[in-house]
Amino acid sequence: MTAVLQLLVPLLLAAIAPVQAAGPSNGDLRLVNSTGGPSALEGALQIYLATNGTWGAVCVRAGSNKELYNTVCQQLGYTGADGTGSYVTNVSVNNVTNDEFPAPLLTGVQCSSVYPHLLRCGYTLVTDVMEDICEDGTGVPYVTCMSSNLTSSGPYPGQVALFYGEWSSEGLLQVYLNNRWGTVCSEFFTLANGDSVCQQLGYTNALYYGPYSQYGIRWIWLRELNATCNSSCFKDCYTAPTIRNIYCSNRDDVYLVCTFDTTRYDSSLPYGRNCSLEYGTLTAAFIAVLMILFCLIVSVYIIIFIMRVVVAAYHKTEHYKLKDKRHRNRRHDFDEYRSSLDENSMILSNDYTVKD
Ligand SMILES: *[C@@H]1O[C@H](CO)[C@@H](O)[C@H](O)[C@H]1NC(C)=O
Ligand SMILES: *[C@@H]1O[C@H](CO)[C@@H](O)[C@H](O)[C@H]1NC(C)=O
Ligand SMILES: *[C@@H]1O[C@H](CO)[C@@H](O)[C@H](O)[C@H]1NC(C)=O
Ligand SMILES: *[C@@H]1O[C@H](CO)[C@@H](O)[C@H](O)[C@H]1NC(C)=O
Ligand SMILES: *[C@@H]1O[C@H](CO)[C@@H](O)[C@H](O)[C@H]1NC(C)=O
Ligand SMILES: *[C@@H]1O[C@H](CO)[C@@H](O)[C@H](O)[C@H]1NC(C)=O
Ligand SMILES: *[C@@H]1O[C@H](CO)[C@@H](O)[C@H](O)[C@H]1NC(C)=O
Ligand SMILES: *[C@@H]1O[C@H](CO)[C@@H](O)[C@H](O)[C@H]1NC(C)=O
Repeated sequence: MTAVLQLLVPLLLAAIAPVQAAGPSNGDLRLVNSTGGPSALEGALQIYLATNGTWGAVCVRAGSNKELYNTVCQQLGYTGADGTGSYVTNVSVNNVTNDEFPAPLLTGVQCSSVYPHLLRCGYTLVTDVMEDICEDGTGVPYVTCMSSNLTSSGPYPGQVALFYGEWSSEGLLQVYLNNRWGTVCSEFFTLANGDSVCQQLGYTNALYYGPYSQYGIRWIWLRELNATCNSSCFKDCYTAPTIRNIYCSNRDDVYLVCTFDTTRYDSSLPYGRNCSLEYGTLTAAFIAVLMILFCLIVSVYIIIFIMRVVVAAYHKTEHYKLKDKRHRNRRHDFDEYRSSLDENSMILSNDYTVKD
């Protein structure tokens, strides 16, 4: 019994546990705040580079642009930075001492526009493992993001987002359609489709995907997808909008891990700036209304049909009852008539006998 349990429990746990990246993906960001740990909303900026296998500081020039702060917040899944941000030349002012703060990996970072990923900005790779945090005239940006995230403030139809991931580059894939977020079934999902989603989000490609396999009552939008589709807008991979998918279970929702592969990066590659579905909500509502009307008409027809059958059957029995009654009445009359006849004939015969 215990042997069976020992065998079954890890299997069950494996089935329930969500797919997760072993660690952060290349280019992932985190904000390290005054309490030392990576915080969700504010802190000194760090980046993870896969080639170095570590988290490192990002150095920017003094008075650096607000596009950078907004880019950082957008990559982390927020609508933008709170104010223009600030930068710190001496990280220890934030209670994270220079010793604790990792050496810089990027320097001279400059964003000419607000991008969905920091590695789309201009930068120089730091090749020397420096002793000091940032060189003269540069500092680590201290970023404060606005608490409302991209997904909670006015998403657009066709928007994609990754939820509940440890890093912003991974999570449960959801698509915003018909005024609500819904998941994607992993049954027909491919890595090419993952590339599509990741590109819409500003990454270069997908690392891997798997079923989220965590129970939950989530709306499911998509199941059938074009397997070869790797368009930089995910909406090109499905025929949308669809009605809620009922042929898929929430255990099969897609958990996706994206990455920014600098060798695959092409600055001309578009990202989700223009991936909205203009017709989305209206058509879906129209289809939904049509479906409801169709169901109503069919059920009304069925009810009418059943009623007609019942009424016909009722009439039939009534008819027979009536016929039977008439028949019986007629028979009764006849019997009476016959018995009267018999009586008469008896009288006649009596008379006759009397005559005889
Ligand atoms: C700092 O980060 C920790 C998590 O590491 C978080 O609990 C705390 O609220 C953050 N503080 C601020 C001021 O953001
Ligand atoms: C956005 O906010 C919602 C609710 O406020 C939360 O459930 C969701 O996980 C957040 N998404 C991201 C990508 O942070
Ligand atoms: C950084 O701040 C700490 C404590 O505030 C101070 O001891 C140190 O000298 C400062 N370093 C520089 C380079 O300013
Ligand atoms: C810095 O750390 C000290 C001791 O750990 C603590 O008393 C102080 O409040 C911290 N300062 C900030 C700004 O968090
Ligand atoms: C990070 O990795 C790159 C590429 O391997 C290397 O050139 C660079 O020196 C490394 N940077 C640090 C700070 O170790
Ligand atoms: C599927 O996607 C590929 C690549 O984008 C495209 O060439 C093909 O026409 C698509 N097929 C359908 C049926 O939409
Ligand atoms: C899609 O995949 C094809 C074949 O692998 C590749 O040539 C093309 O560049 C990809 N397109 C995008 C937008 O990634
Ligand atoms: C988005 O696409 C539409 C039509 O496909 C086009 O008219 C519009 O200019 C595009 N907008 C941007 C910002 O590229």
